[in-house]
Amino acid sequence: MDQESLPPHVLIFPLPLQGPVNATFKLAELLCLSGLHITFLVTDHIHIQLLKNSNIQSRFDGYPGFHLETISDGLPENHPRSGAQLMEMFDSLKTKTKILLKDLLTSGKLNSDSRRPVTCIIADGVMGYACDVANDVGLPFMYVRTISACCVLVFFCLTKLIESGEIPFAGNDLDTPIKSIPGMEGLIRRRDLPMFCRTRNLSDPSLNFYLQNLPEITENSRGHGLILNTFDDIEGPILAQIRALCPNLYAVGPLHWHLKYKLADQSSSQLLVQTVCGKKIRVALHGWIHNRRNHGSRFLWVIRPESVASDPTEIPLELSKDLWSCSIYLIVLPFDLVLLYLSSLSQLHQPGASNPSEPQTTHLRNNSDMDQETLPPHVLIFPLPLQGPVNSMFKLAELLCLSGLHVTFLVTDHIHTRLLKYSNIQSRFDGYPGFHLETISDGLPENHPRSGAELMEMFDSLTTKTKILLKDLLTSGKLNSDSCGPVTCIISDGIMGYTCDVANDVGLPIIYVRTISACCLWVFFCLPKLIESGELPFAGNDLDTPIKSIPGMEGFFRRRDLPMFCRSGSLSDPNLNLYLPEITENSRAHGLILNTFDDLEGPILAQIRAFCPNLYTIGPLHSHLKFKLVGQSSSSPPSSNSLWKEDMSCITWLDSQPPKSVLYVSFGSLAVMTKDQYMEFWHGLVNSGSRFLWVIRPDSVTSDPTEIPLELSKGTEERGYIVGWAPQEEVLAHRAVGGFLTHSGWNSTLESVIEGVPMICWPYFLDQQVNSRFVGEVWKLGLDMKDTCDRVIVEKTVRELMEDRKDKFRKSADEMAKFAKQCLMEGGSSYCNLERLIKDIKAM
Ligand code: UDX
Repeated sequence: MDQESLPPHVLIFPLPLQGPVNATFKLAELLCLSGLHITFLVTDHIHIQLLKNSNIQSRFDGYPGFHLETISDGLPENHPRSGAQLMEMFDSLKTKTKILLKDLLTSGKLNSDSRRPVTCIIADGVMGYACDVANDVGLPFMYVRTISACCVLVFFCLTKLIESGEIPFAGNDLDTPIKSIPGMEGLIRRRDLPMFCRTRNLSDPSLNFYLQNLPEITENSRGHGLILNTFDDIEGPILAQIRALCPNLYAVGPLHWHLKYKLADQSSSQLLVQTVCGKKIRVALHGWIHNRRNHGSRFLWVIRPESVASDPTEIPLELSKDLWSCSIYLIVLPFDLVLLYLSSLSQLHQPGASNPSEPQTTHLRNNSDMDQETLPPHVLIFPLPLQGPVNSMFKLAELLCLSGLHVTFLVTDHIHTRLLKYSNIQSRFDGYPGFHLETISDGLPENHPRSGAELMEMFDSLTTKTKILLKDLLTSGKLNSDSCGPVTCIISDGIMGYTCDVANDVGLPIIYVRTISACCLWVFFCLPKLIESGELPFAGNDLDTPIKSIPGMEGFFRRRDLPMFCRSGSLSDPNLNLYLPEITENSRAHGLILNTFDDLEGPILAQIRAFCPNLYTIGPLHSHLKFKLVGQSSSSPPSSNSLWKEDMSCITWLDSQPPKSVLYVSFGSLAVMTKDQYMEFWHGLVNSGSRFLWVIRPDSVTSDPTEIPLELSKGTEERGYIVGWAPQEEVLAHRAVGGFLTHSGWNSTLESVIEGVPMICWPYFLDQQVNSRFVGEVWKLGLDMKDTCDRVIVEKTVRELMEDRKDKFRKSADEMAKFAKQCLMEGGSSYCNLERLIKDIKAM
C-alpha cells in the first residue's frame, strides 16, 4: 500500500545523441516538476560527456525524485558514434543494449523504499526494441520523437513513396513534386525529402536502414502514445495526418520554452539562467554583443571542434580583423540561451517594437475570418439511435456545452419524435445557446419496430442510407451560421463505422464513443481471437466451459458469459459479424470515449489501451453531469431524455416505504420476455415477501398478460407498485431502494453502482451477459441469475440480496460508489479525462 501511494515512476530513455538527450532532459524536468519520479537512462558514453561538460548533476539536485542511470551502448569507448559509423551505434543498441535494458528493468535496481518500480517507459521512437522490452516486462510504453512532426510524417510515408514509385528516383531533377505524402501535396519536392532518399536503388544502406530499422509508421503506433516536441499552431495539419495513425499524440513543445514557462510559474526563472547556462557565459555574451562595432552584420558562430573536416588554419586578415578576441567559440554554447538572449535584445532595440504585454497580431487572415476563428469549437454528436446510447450522449453533450463548446446533437427522426413527446430535452437545453438539435432519417418506415429481431435492419439502413445523408448534411453548410462555426469534430458511436468514413471524406477529425461497458467492448475486441482459437462457434449445451482466449478474463469467464449472439453456433450470425470488426474499427478514430471509470474497469481498460491508446474514460456520465451542475449551482430542471412517459407516482409510493426495503425491478428499454417468464418473475417477487417497484414497459411482454392469479394481485397490492416507465435515476437514488433486479444494461448498471445499490442480474442480450458476470464475480456487487427464470430461484435470489447477504453486498456496493464519486471530483480520473477531451477538441 505504501509503495502504491508513491508517485508514478517513469523511465526515460533518449536516443544517445545531443539533440534527443537535450530535449528529453527538458521533458524529464517537466515531469519532475509535476511530482513524478524519473529514472533518466543514458549510455555510458553520453554519461561521461554529461559529467564533463554539463551541470546536469547539480541541476537535478533540486529534484529528489530524479535519478540518472547508465547503460552500455555495446560499443568500444573510442568508437566515434557519429557520421558514417552512426548506423553501427543503432545496430549495437538494438542487439546488445536491448538485453541490458530488460535485465535492468527486471533487476529491481531501479526501485527502493522511496521509489516504486518503473510504472511507464518513455523512449525514443526510433528505438523500437525498447517497446519490445516494455511489452516483455508488461509495462506501458510511450514514444517520444524529437524531430519535427513534418519529418515524422515523411518517415511515415516512406513505404508509400516506394509503392507509388516516387523513390528511388533517377536523374537530377530534384524539383519534381512529391505527391504521395498527404498534406504536403503541392509544396514538397524531391529535394525536400531527407537526404537518404536521394538514391537510385532501394538497397542503399541508409534508406534501407530507415525502412528496416525504423518502420516508423507501424512502430510509432505501437506505443500508448507519441510525444512530439512541437506545437499545434505550427504543425497542426501535419499533426492531424499523424493522428490518424497515432491517435494519442502529445504535442508538448517547444519543450525548452515549456520548461521555462513552468519554472517561471514556480518563480524560479533565475535558477534556469544561472544553473543551466552559467553566469559566465551570460556575461561574456552580453559583453561581446555590446562591444561589437556598428558595421556589417553581427554574428555569433558556434564551431564545434570536430565540425570542420580538416583543421582550420590561417584565418585571412580581413576575416579576423573585425572580430573580438573571442569571436570563434570553440565550445558548444547552450543554444537556447543564445536565441533567448538575442531575441530579447532585438525586441528591446527594434524601433517601434510592440509592448510585449500587448497581444501580437500576426494573423494573415482578415477580421471576418478571425471572428469565425474565435468562435468555440463545434462538435457534432451522433449517438446510436437507441434509448441507452441517446441517454448517455445527451449527458456528454451537456458536459461539452457547460465547457463552452458548440454542440449539434444529431438524432434520427424516429428518436426525435419520441424525445419531443416524452422528454424535456427542448427546455433542458434552452439554457445553452450553443446547443442545437438536428435530425436525420434512419431510412426506415415510421412503423418499423427498430427493436428485437428487427434491430439489424436498422443498422443496415443506417449504413446504407443515413451515411449518404450525413455527408450531405456536413457539406451543406446547414450546420453553421454567423454565431456557430462549421463542425470541427465529430463524436459518434463506434459501432457506426460509416461515420468515420464520412468524417475522413469531409476531412474532419472523429472521436468514437462506446456506451457499453469496457469489459464487453474487450470481449468484442477478442472475437477474432476466439474464432482463431476455436472457442467460437461452439456446439452443444455446455455453457459452463471456461473461455481462455480473452486476456484478463481467464479463470472466471464462461461460454454463458459471452454476448448472447455467441450462442448461435454459426459464424454467419449477423450480430457476430456486426461486432467482429470492433478491434480494427475503434482504433481508426482519434480517440475513444468510454462511459466507465478507471477504478471499476482498470485492468480491462489497460487491455483496450493497447489497441486504442487514446481512451477517455469519463463515466459514469450521468453523475459526472450532476457533479458539474452542482459546481455551477445551476437551477436547470432534472434531466429527462426518456423515450417513454415517466410515471412520477412511483416516487410518492417510494416516499412511504422504509429505508432500503424496496427492490426496484426494471429490464431496460429493449428487453422483451415471454409470458411464462413474466409470470415466473411475478410469483418469485411476491413469494419473496420483499417490497418491489416494477417497471413493465407496455411492449415488454410478448403476449398480453391475462388473468392474474388472485394471490399475485393481492401480494402486489400489499407490497408492490407497477409502472410503465419510471424516472430510474431518481428511483435508484431514493432512500427506500435497497436492491435492483436488472437486465444489466450498461446505463442501468452504472446508475446502480454510483448509488451503491446491489443488483440481481437477469441479462437479456448483447453486453448484458458480460456485465452481469462482472457484477457477480469480479466486482461482487450482487448476484448473477443468468439463464434461469424460475419462481423458486427468483424468490431465493431476492431473499439473499435483500435479507440474508444484504450487509455484505451493501458494503461492497458502498465502497464502489465511493470510488465512482472520487473519479468525478477534481483531480479524479474521469474528471481529468474530460478536461483532456475538451482540450483535445479545442486543439482540433
Ligand atoms: C441496451 C444495453 O444493454 C446497453 O448496455 C446498450 O448500450 C444498449 O442496449 P437498454 O436496454 O436501453 O440498453 O439498457 P440500459 O443501458 O440500462 O439503458 C436504459 C436507460 O433507460 C437507463 O438510462 C435508465 O435510467 C432508463 N430507464 C429505464 C428509465 O429512465 N426508466 C425506466 O423505467 C427504465
